Amino acid sequence: MDIVILVSGRGSNLKAICSAIDAGKCDANIVGVVSDRKKAAALEFADARGIQTRVVSLRKGDDRDLWNDALAKTVVSLKPDLIVLAGFMRVLGTPLLERFPGRIINVHPALLPAFPGHSGPQDALDAGVRISGCTVHIVDAGVDTGPIIAQAAVPVVEGDSAESLHTRIQVQEHRLLPAVIHQIAIGAITLNPLRVRRPVADLSRSLTVPDA
Ligand code: GRF
Repeated sequence: MDIVILVSGRGSNLKAICSAIDAGKCDANIVGVVSDRKKAAALEFADARGIQTRVVSLRKGDDRDLWNDALAKTVVSLKPDLIVLAGFMRVLGTPLLERFPGRIINVHPALLPAFPGHSGPQDALDAGVRISGCTVHIVDAGVDTGPIIAQAAVPVVEGDSAESLHTRIQVQEHRLLPAVIHQIAIGAITLNPLRVRRPVADLSRSLTVPDA
């Protein structure tokens, strides 16, 4: 299964996917990494690994429709079977969504449908929840609203900052996202825009919540 990964930043999830591929645990081939930011550290990592990279920047004042068209064109040219948003901080427009219905997934640092948006860990702390986690879901036109594929939970501990909670959540992201990609690659999870079919042992069953 050929995948394109969309990034905006650090790329720790990209690295986790690469490690899982190297370890034979994720049956996917990364055909490109696309960023909306030229300076994304994820691009350096992809370059160093010999993965094709593309930048489709969106600056203040730029026409968003044109950017959406350019992004779709770039991704289409890489011919992916699946698109993975791994820290891509933009909402996708219809050109890409319509071209790949149900074939775009995202990882989010909260247990959706709670705490969508840019500040999931902080919002979870502000709400006083004792359990948080990450969600892998199909991308639709909303902000973190698409059908949920898999989730992993982590405890919120006394004294947590948004950063420390996010770091704990990312440990689970790095397990869950490559595992979901693998399950899609081998046909154990099938996706369509409206629902997720999960005939396999639920991924979350293999995930334990560590003691707080
Ligand atoms: C992750 O926590 C992901 O859930 C969110 O953005 C963060 C990206 O981290 N969407 P990284 O760039 O993969 O390190």
